[in-house]
Amino acid sequence: MNDRDVLDPSALDRIDLADPALHHAHDLREVWRHLRDEAPVYRHERAGGEGFWVITRYDDVAAVYKDGETFTSERGNVLDTLLTGGDSAAGRMLAVTDGPRHAALRAVLGKPFSPRSLEVVVDSVRRGTQQLLREAVERGSCDFAADVAAHIPLAAICDLLGVPPADRQHIIDLTSTALSSADAPATPEATWASRNDLLLYFSELAESRRAKPYDDVVSLLVTKEVDGRPLSHEEIIFNCYSIIMGGHETTRFAMIGGVEALVEHPEQWEALRGGDKVTAAAVDEVLRWTTPALHSGRTATEDVFLGGEFIEAGDVVTVWNASANRDERVFADPGRFDLARTPNKHLTFAYGPHFCIGAYLARAEIGALLEGLRTMVAEIEFTGPRRRIFSNFLSGLSTAPVKLTPAPGFGG
Ligand code: HEM
Repeated sequence: MNDRDVLDPSALDRIDLADPALHHAHDLREVWRHLRDEAPVYRHERAGGEGFWVITRYDDVAAVYKDGETFTSERGNVLDTLLTGGDSAAGRMLAVTDGPRHAALRAVLGKPFSPRSLEVVVDSVRRGTQQLLREAVERGSCDFAADVAAHIPLAAICDLLGVPPADRQHIIDLTSTALSSADAPATPEATWASRNDLLLYFSELAESRRAKPYDDVVSLLVTKEVDGRPLSHEEIIFNCYSIIMGGHETTRFAMIGGVEALVEHPEQWEALRGGDKVTAAAVDEVLRWTTPALHSGRTATEDVFLGGEFIEAGDVVTVWNASANRDERVFADPGRFDLARTPNKHLTFAYGPHFCIGAYLARAEIGALLEGLRTMVAEIEFTGPRRRIFSNFLSGLSTAPVKLTPAPGFGG
Protein backbone atom coordinates (compact mmCIF):
# COMPACT_ATOMS: atom_id res chain seq x y z
CA MET A 1 0.00 0.00 0.00
CA ASN A 2 2.61 2.46 -1.09
CA ASP A 3 1.17 5.75 -2.26
CA ARG A 4 4.31 6.63 -4.24
CA ASP A 5 6.08 5.01 -7.19
CA VAL A 6 9.21 3.16 -6.22
CA LEU A 7 11.79 4.89 -8.40
CA ASP A 8 14.12 2.70 -10.41
CA PRO A 9 17.84 3.42 -9.78
CA SER A 10 18.38 3.78 -13.54
CA ALA A 11 16.68 7.20 -13.16
CA LEU A 12 19.56 8.46 -11.02
CA ASP A 13 21.20 10.43 -13.85
CA ARG A 14 17.97 12.26 -14.60
CA ILE A 15 16.70 13.21 -11.14
CA ASP A 16 17.51 16.09 -8.83
CA LEU A 17 17.69 14.96 -5.20
CA ALA A 18 17.22 18.58 -4.12
CA ASP A 19 13.83 18.77 -5.85
CA PRO A 20 10.96 18.67 -3.29
CA ALA A 21 8.57 17.26 -5.92
CA LEU A 22 10.83 14.21 -6.38
CA HIS A 23 10.41 13.17 -2.74
CA HIS A 24 6.72 13.98 -2.88
CA ALA A 25 6.05 11.71 -5.84
CA HIS A 26 8.59 8.91 -5.46
CA ASP A 27 9.75 6.36 -2.95
CA LEU A 28 13.55 6.35 -3.25
CA ARG A 29 14.23 3.10 -1.37
CA GLU A 30 15.69 1.34 -4.45
CA VAL A 31 17.80 4.37 -5.34
CA TRP A 32 19.24 4.38 -1.81
CA ARG A 33 19.89 0.63 -1.93
CA HIS A 34 21.69 1.00 -5.26
CA LEU A 35 23.82 3.87 -3.97
CA ARG A 36 24.71 2.00 -0.75
CA ASP A 37 25.86 -0.99 -2.81
CA GLU A 38 27.46 0.69 -5.81
CA ALA A 39 28.38 4.29 -4.96
CA PRO A 40 28.10 4.96 -1.22
CA VAL A 41 29.91 8.30 -1.58
CA TYR A 42 28.27 9.66 -4.70
CA ARG A 43 28.81 12.92 -6.56
CA HIS A 44 25.35 14.14 -7.57
CA GLU A 45 25.67 16.58 -10.47
CA ARG A 46 22.65 18.76 -11.21
CA ALA A 47 21.80 20.29 -14.55
CA GLY A 48 20.36 23.45 -13.05
CA GLY A 49 22.75 24.13 -10.17
CA GLU A 50 25.56 23.25 -7.81
CA GLY A 51 26.26 19.53 -7.33
CA PHE A 52 26.75 17.87 -3.96
CA TRP A 53 27.96 14.65 -2.35
CA VAL A 54 25.39 12.06 -1.31
CA ILE A 55 26.40 9.71 1.53
CA THR A 56 24.14 6.72 2.01
CA ARG A 57 25.84 4.01 4.13
CA TYR A 58 25.25 4.02 7.88
CA ASP A 59 28.96 3.98 8.84
CA ASP A 60 29.86 6.84 6.50
CA VAL A 61 26.86 8.89 7.62
CA ALA A 62 27.84 8.41 11.28
CA ALA A 63 31.48 9.29 10.48
CA VAL A 64 30.45 12.59 8.84
CA TYR A 65 28.11 13.46 11.73
CA LYS A 66 30.89 12.77 14.24
CA ASP A 67 33.56 14.90 12.58
CA GLY A 68 32.30 18.47 12.84
CA GLU A 69 35.79 19.84 12.13
CA THR A 70 36.09 18.33 8.66
CA PHE A 71 32.37 18.53 7.91
CA THR A 72 31.08 21.81 9.30
CA SER A 73 27.47 22.86 9.84
CA GLU A 74 28.47 26.53 9.91
CA ARG A 75 27.44 27.22 6.30
CA GLY A 76 24.09 25.53 6.84
CA ASN A 77 22.81 22.05 7.67
CA VAL A 78 20.14 21.47 5.02
CA LEU A 79 20.35 21.44 1.23
CA ASP A 80 18.13 24.45 0.68
CA THR A 81 20.36 26.85 2.58
CA LEU A 82 23.60 25.21 1.42
CA LEU A 83 22.64 25.56 -2.24
CA THR A 84 21.53 29.17 -1.88
CA GLY A 85 24.64 30.68 -0.34
CA GLY A 86 24.59 29.59 3.30
CA ASP A 87 22.59 30.05 6.49
CA SER A 88 22.22 33.59 7.78
CA ALA A 89 22.10 32.25 11.36
CA ALA A 90 25.49 30.50 11.07
CA GLY A 91 27.55 30.76 14.23
CA ARG A 92 24.54 32.03 16.19
CA MET A 93 21.94 29.24 16.04
CA LEU A 94 22.76 25.92 17.72
CA ALA A 95 22.30 23.64 14.70
CA VAL A 96 24.56 25.79 12.49
CA THR A 97 27.30 26.53 15.03
CA ASP A 98 30.34 24.33 15.66
CA GLY A 99 33.27 23.97 18.04
CA PRO A 100 33.52 25.60 21.48
CA ARG A 101 30.73 28.11 20.79
CA HIS A 102 28.37 25.24 19.95
CA ALA A 103 29.36 23.38 23.13
CA ALA A 104 28.78 26.49 25.29
CA LEU A 105 25.42 27.24 23.68
CA ARG A 106 24.37 23.63 24.00
CA ALA A 107 25.28 23.57 27.68
CA VAL A 108 22.75 26.38 28.28
CA LEU A 109 20.06 25.21 25.86
CA GLY A 110 20.39 21.56 26.85
CA LYS A 111 19.20 22.10 30.44
CA PRO A 112 15.48 22.55 29.75
CA PHE A 113 15.60 19.44 27.51
CA SER A 114 16.84 17.06 30.23
CA PRO A 115 14.35 14.38 31.36
CA ARG A 116 14.16 16.03 34.79
CA SER A 117 13.37 19.52 33.50
CA LEU A 118 10.86 18.10 31.02
CA GLU A 119 8.76 16.30 33.66
CA VAL A 120 5.97 18.91 33.66
CA VAL A 121 5.95 19.27 29.86
CA VAL A 122 5.84 15.48 29.35
CA ASP A 123 3.03 15.18 31.83
CA SER A 124 1.07 17.76 29.92
CA VAL A 125 1.93 15.97 26.62
CA ARG A 126 0.39 12.76 28.01
CA ARG A 127 -2.78 14.50 29.16
CA GLY A 128 -3.11 16.54 25.98
CA THR A 129 -2.60 13.48 23.77
CA GLN A 130 -5.23 11.46 25.66
CA GLN A 131 -7.66 14.34 25.31
CA LEU A 132 -7.06 14.82 21.55
CA LEU A 133 -7.41 11.09 20.91
CA ARG A 134 -10.51 10.79 23.04
CA GLU A 135 -12.15 13.59 21.01
CA ALA A 136 -11.05 11.99 17.73
CA VAL A 137 -12.41 8.56 18.74
CA GLU A 138 -15.70 10.14 19.84
CA ARG A 139 -16.03 11.86 16.48
CA GLY A 140 -15.29 8.55 14.75
CA SER A 141 -13.31 9.98 11.90
CA CYS A 142 -10.81 12.79 11.55
CA ASP A 143 -7.81 14.02 9.63
CA PHE A 144 -5.20 12.49 11.88
CA ALA A 145 -2.56 14.90 10.59
CA ALA A 146 -4.42 18.14 11.22
CA ASP A 147 -6.69 17.16 14.12
CA VAL A 148 -4.34 15.10 16.28
CA ALA A 149 -0.68 14.98 15.25
CA ALA A 150 -0.28 18.70 14.48
CA HIS A 151 -1.22 19.72 18.02
CA ILE A 152 0.93 17.46 20.19
CA PRO A 153 4.49 18.60 19.37
CA LEU A 154 3.47 22.21 18.93
CA ALA A 155 1.76 22.32 22.32
CA ALA A 156 4.90 20.86 23.92
CA ILE A 157 7.21 23.36 22.22
CA CYS A 158 4.89 26.26 23.02
CA ASP A 159 4.85 25.11 26.68
CA LEU A 160 8.64 25.02 26.64
CA LEU A 161 9.05 28.40 24.97
CA GLY A 162 6.18 30.06 26.80
CA VAL A 163 4.04 30.83 23.71
CA PRO A 164 0.48 31.74 24.81
CA PRO A 165 -2.31 29.33 23.63
CA ALA A 166 -4.01 32.07 21.57
CA ASP A 167 -0.95 32.33 19.28
CA ARG A 168 -0.51 28.61 18.61
CA GLN A 169 -2.55 28.25 15.43
CA HIS A 170 -0.67 31.20 13.94
CA ILE A 171 2.61 29.42 14.73
CA ILE A 172 1.36 26.14 13.11
CA ASP A 173 0.49 28.03 9.90
CA LEU A 174 3.80 29.87 9.71
CA THR A 175 5.84 26.76 10.47
CA SER A 176 4.26 24.67 7.76
CA THR A 177 4.94 27.26 5.05
CA ALA A 178 8.41 28.04 6.35
CA LEU A 179 9.68 24.48 6.22
CA SER A 180 7.59 22.22 4.04
CA SER A 181 4.44 22.60 2.04
CA ALA A 182 1.23 20.66 2.19
CA ASP A 183 -0.28 20.74 -1.26
CA ALA A 184 2.28 22.30 -3.56
CA PRO A 185 5.89 23.34 -3.35
CA ALA A 186 5.99 26.62 -1.42
CA THR A 187 7.23 29.60 -3.41
CA PRO A 188 10.54 31.03 -2.19
CA GLU A 189 8.69 34.27 -1.39
CA ALA A 190 6.08 32.49 0.79
CA THR A 191 8.81 30.54 2.61
CA TRP A 192 10.83 33.70 3.17
CA ALA A 193 7.83 35.67 4.42
CA SER A 194 6.81 32.99 6.94
CA ARG A 195 10.36 32.63 8.23
CA ASN A 196 10.50 36.38 8.76
CA ASP A 197 7.13 36.39 10.50
CA LEU A 198 8.29 33.64 12.86
CA LEU A 199 11.48 35.56 13.66
CA LEU A 200 9.45 38.70 14.29
CA TYR A 201 7.08 36.81 16.57
CA PHE A 202 9.95 35.53 18.71
CA SER A 203 11.58 38.94 18.72
CA GLU A 204 8.46 40.37 20.35
CA LEU A 205 8.14 37.44 22.78
CA ALA A 206 11.80 37.88 23.81
CA GLU A 207 11.24 41.59 24.45
CA SER A 208 8.30 40.86 26.71
CA ARG A 209 10.27 38.18 28.63
CA ARG A 210 13.20 40.54 29.05
CA ALA A 211 10.84 42.94 30.79
CA LYS A 212 9.27 40.17 32.87
CA PRO A 213 10.99 36.74 32.84
CA TYR A 214 8.97 33.56 33.43
CA ASP A 215 10.02 29.93 33.86
CA ASP A 216 10.39 29.15 30.14
CA VAL A 217 13.12 28.74 27.50
CA VAL A 218 12.73 32.27 26.07
CA SER A 219 13.25 33.71 29.57
CA LEU A 220 16.28 31.42 30.01
CA LEU A 221 17.76 32.70 26.75
CA VAL A 222 17.28 36.35 27.68
CA THR A 223 18.73 35.98 31.19
CA LYS A 224 21.62 33.44 30.82
CA GLU A 225 25.18 34.15 29.76
CA VAL A 226 27.04 31.96 27.26
CA ASP A 227 30.84 32.07 27.56
CA GLY A 228 30.64 35.01 29.92
CA ARG A 229 28.38 37.24 27.81
CA PRO A 230 24.62 37.52 27.37
CA LEU A 231 23.17 36.25 24.09
CA SER A 232 22.46 38.93 21.51
CA HIS A 233 18.86 39.62 20.55
CA GLU A 234 19.47 37.83 17.22
CA GLU A 235 20.96 34.76 18.90
CA ILE A 236 17.90 34.53 21.14
CA ILE A 237 15.48 34.77 18.23
CA PHE A 238 17.38 32.33 16.02
CA ASN A 239 17.47 29.73 18.78
CA CYS A 240 13.74 30.00 19.49
CA TYR A 241 13.18 29.56 15.78
CA SER A 242 15.50 26.57 15.73
CA ILE A 243 13.57 24.82 18.51
CA ILE A 244 10.22 25.31 16.85
CA MET A 245 11.53 24.29 13.43
CA GLY A 246 13.46 21.34 14.85
CA GLY A 247 10.72 19.93 17.00
CA HIS A 248 7.36 20.57 15.44
CA GLU A 249 7.05 19.02 11.99
CA THR A 250 9.63 16.27 12.57
CA THR A 251 7.69 14.82 15.51
CA ARG A 252 4.37 15.35 13.79
CA PHE A 253 5.51 13.37 10.73
CA ALA A 254 6.89 10.58 12.93
CA MET A 255 3.45 10.29 14.55
CA ILE A 256 1.46 10.25 11.32
CA GLY A 257 3.98 7.89 9.72
CA GLY A 258 3.71 5.64 12.78
CA VAL A 259 -0.06 5.44 12.36
CA GLU A 260 0.36 4.72 8.65
CA ALA A 261 2.82 1.92 9.44
CA LEU A 262 0.43 0.40 11.98
CA VAL A 263 -2.40 0.40 9.43
CA GLU A 264 -0.16 -1.21 6.84
CA HIS A 265 1.18 -3.84 9.27
CA PRO A 266 -1.91 -5.19 11.08
CA GLU A 267 0.12 -7.85 12.92
CA GLN A 268 2.23 -5.10 14.53
CA TRP A 269 -0.91 -3.20 15.49
CA GLU A 270 -2.27 -6.35 17.13
CA ALA A 271 1.05 -6.85 18.94
CA LEU A 272 0.91 -3.26 20.22
CA ARG A 273 -2.68 -3.64 21.38
CA GLY A 274 -1.97 -7.04 22.95
CA GLY A 275 0.98 -5.79 25.01
CA ASP A 276 0.56 -4.27 28.43
CA LYS A 277 2.63 -1.17 27.72
CA VAL A 278 4.36 0.71 24.94
CA THR A 279 8.03 -0.29 24.90
CA ALA A 280 11.01 1.93 24.12
CA ALA A 281 11.73 -0.48 21.24
CA ALA A 282 8.33 0.27 19.68
CA VAL A 283 8.94 4.03 19.83
CA ASP A 284 12.39 3.63 18.27
CA GLU A 285 11.09 1.46 15.48
CA VAL A 286 8.53 4.14 14.59
CA LEU A 287 11.41 6.63 14.53
CA ARG A 288 13.61 4.41 12.33
CA TRP A 289 10.76 3.51 10.01
CA THR A 290 9.51 7.05 9.47
CA THR A 291 12.86 8.95 9.49
CA PRO A 292 11.16 12.37 9.25
CA ALA A 293 14.43 14.28 8.61
CA LEU A 294 15.60 12.79 5.32
CA HIS A 295 19.04 14.33 5.26
CA SER A 296 21.48 16.66 7.01
CA GLY A 297 23.93 18.85 5.14
CA ARG A 298 27.53 19.83 5.80
CA THR A 299 30.41 21.61 4.04
CA ALA A 300 33.89 20.07 3.81
CA THR A 301 36.43 22.38 5.46
CA GLU A 302 39.45 20.63 3.89
CA ASP A 303 40.24 18.15 1.12
CA VAL A 304 39.36 14.70 2.42
CA PHE A 305 38.98 11.11 1.22
CA LEU A 306 35.75 9.37 2.18
CA GLY A 307 34.87 5.89 0.97
CA GLY A 308 37.68 6.16 -1.59
CA GLU A 309 36.29 9.39 -3.10
CA PHE A 310 38.06 12.72 -3.05
CA ILE A 311 35.93 15.46 -1.51
CA GLU A 312 37.31 18.98 -1.98
CA ALA A 313 37.31 21.74 0.62
CA GLY A 314 34.12 23.78 0.13
CA ASP A 315 32.06 20.91 -1.30
CA VAL A 316 28.52 20.41 -0.03
CA VAL A 317 28.11 16.99 1.62
CA THR A 318 24.70 15.50 2.40
CA VAL A 319 24.15 12.50 4.68
CA TRP A 320 20.89 10.64 4.11
CA ASN A 321 19.33 9.34 7.32
CA ALA A 322 16.58 7.81 5.19
CA SER A 323 19.15 5.50 3.60
CA ALA A 324 21.35 4.86 6.65
CA ASN A 325 18.30 3.68 8.62
CA ARG A 326 17.67 0.98 5.99
CA ASP A 327 21.31 -0.11 5.65
CA GLU A 328 21.31 -3.90 5.57
CA ARG A 329 24.93 -3.84 6.83
CA VAL A 330 23.59 -2.66 10.21
CA PHE A 331 19.89 -3.58 10.43
CA ALA A 332 18.67 -7.17 10.05
CA ASP A 333 15.84 -7.26 7.52
CA PRO A 334 15.66 -3.41 7.40
CA GLY A 335 12.54 -3.36 5.22
CA ARG A 336 10.53 -4.99 8.00
CA PHE A 337 8.56 -2.84 10.43
CA ASP A 338 9.14 -4.63 13.74
CA LEU A 339 8.09 -2.95 16.98
CA ALA A 340 10.24 -5.41 18.95
CA ARG A 341 13.41 -4.62 16.97
CA THR A 342 16.52 -4.56 19.11
CA PRO A 343 19.21 -3.35 18.79
CA ASN A 344 18.00 -0.34 16.85
CA LYS A 345 20.68 2.32 16.70
CA HIS A 346 18.90 4.40 14.06
CA LEU A 347 20.26 7.79 12.98
CA THR A 348 16.87 9.53 12.96
CA PHE A 349 18.18 12.01 15.56
CA ALA A 350 21.65 12.20 13.93
CA TYR A 351 24.79 11.37 15.90
CA GLY A 352 27.74 13.15 17.52
CA PRO A 353 27.89 16.82 18.53
CA HIS A 354 24.60 17.85 16.90
CA PHE A 355 22.61 14.83 18.15
CA CYS A 356 19.03 16.07 18.46
CA ILE A 357 18.53 18.03 21.67
CA GLY A 358 14.81 17.18 21.64
CA ALA A 359 15.18 13.40 21.32
CA TYR A 360 13.84 12.66 24.80
CA LEU A 361 10.84 14.92 24.26
CA ALA A 362 10.10 13.46 20.82
CA ARG A 363 10.28 9.91 22.19
CA ALA A 364 7.92 10.88 25.04
CA GLU A 365 5.43 12.37 22.56
CA ILE A 366 5.45 9.32 20.28
CA GLY A 367 5.19 7.04 23.33
CA ALA A 368 2.16 9.01 24.55
CA LEU A 369 0.49 8.70 21.16
CA LEU A 370 1.08 4.93 20.90
CA GLU A 371 -0.18 4.47 24.47
CA GLY A 372 -3.35 6.44 23.70
CA LEU A 373 -3.97 4.44 20.51
CA ARG A 374 -3.27 1.11 22.23
CA THR A 375 -5.76 1.75 25.01
CA MET A 376 -8.52 3.69 23.24
CA VAL A 377 -8.65 2.38 19.68
CA ALA A 378 -9.59 -1.06 18.33
CA GLU A 379 -9.11 -0.37 14.65
CA ILE A 380 -7.63 2.33 12.42
CA GLU A 381 -8.61 2.64 8.75
CA PHE A 382 -7.79 5.21 6.10
CA THR A 383 -10.99 6.69 4.68
CA GLY A 384 -9.62 8.88 1.89
CA PRO A 385 -6.47 9.79 0.01
CA ARG A 386 -3.39 10.61 2.03
CA ARG A 387 -1.36 13.59 0.91
CA ARG A 388 2.39 13.78 1.17
CA ILE A 389 4.36 17.00 1.73
CA PHE A 390 6.69 18.62 -0.78
CA SER A 391 10.14 18.77 0.77
CA ASN A 392 13.67 17.51 0.15
CA PHE A 393 14.35 17.66 3.88
CA LEU A 394 11.26 16.38 5.68
CA SER A 395 9.16 13.36 4.86
CA GLY A 396 5.59 12.76 5.92
CA LEU A 397 1.87 13.10 5.33
CA SER A 398 0.08 16.43 5.50
CA THR A 399 -3.37 14.83 5.26
CA ALA A 400 -4.34 11.46 6.69
CA PRO A 401 -8.14 10.91 6.91
CA VAL A 402 -8.83 8.03 9.29
CA LYS A 403 -11.68 6.23 10.99
CA LEU A 404 -10.94 5.27 14.59
CA THR A 405 -13.06 2.45 16.03
CA PRO A 406 -13.20 2.67 19.83
CA ALA A 407 -11.63 -0.13 21.89
CA PRO A 408 -14.03 -2.18 24.04
CA GLY A 409 -14.57 -0.27 27.26
CA PHE A 410 -13.77 3.10 25.68
CA GLY A 411 -15.56 5.81 27.59
CA GLY A 412 -16.80 3.25 30.09
C1 HEM B 1 18.99 18.48 15.88
C2 HEM B 1 15.88 15.24 14.00
C3 HEM B 1 12.68 16.40 17.46
C4 HEM B 1 15.26 20.39 18.36
C5 HEM B 1 18.44 17.46 15.13
C6 HEM B 1 19.15 16.73 14.10
C7 HEM B 1 18.27 15.83 13.56
C8 HEM B 1 17.02 15.97 14.27
C9 HEM B 1 18.53 14.84 12.43
C10 HEM B 1 20.60 16.96 13.69
C11 HEM B 1 20.71 17.99 12.59
C12 HEM B 1 22.11 18.09 12.09
O1 HEM B 1 23.00 17.34 12.53
O2 HEM B 1 22.37 18.94 11.23
C13 HEM B 1 14.73 15.29 14.79
C14 HEM B 1 13.60 14.39 14.62
C15 HEM B 1 12.71 14.70 15.60
C16 HEM B 1 13.26 15.80 16.37
C17 HEM B 1 13.46 13.35 13.54
C18 HEM B 1 11.36 14.09 15.92
C19 HEM B 1 10.99 12.88 15.59
C20 HEM B 1 13.10 17.56 18.05
C21 HEM B 1 12.42 18.27 19.11
C22 HEM B 1 13.13 19.43 19.32
C23 HEM B 1 14.28 19.41 18.44
C24 HEM B 1 11.14 17.78 19.78
C25 HEM B 1 12.86 20.55 20.28
C26 HEM B 1 11.71 20.79 20.85
C27 HEM B 1 16.49 20.20 17.78
C28 HEM B 1 17.59 21.16 17.90
C29 HEM B 1 18.68 20.59 17.20
C30 HEM B 1 18.20 19.32 16.66
C31 HEM B 1 17.55 22.50 18.63
C32 HEM B 1 20.08 21.17 17.04
C33 HEM B 1 21.02 20.46 18.02
C34 HEM B 1 22.47 20.86 17.84
O3 HEM B 1 22.83 21.33 16.76
O4 HEM B 1 23.26 20.70 18.79
N1 HEM B 1 17.15 16.97 15.23
N2 HEM B 1 14.47 16.13 15.82
N3 HEM B 1 14.23 18.26 17.69
N4 HEM B 1 16.90 19.12 17.04
FE1 HEM B 1 15.74 17.56 16.53
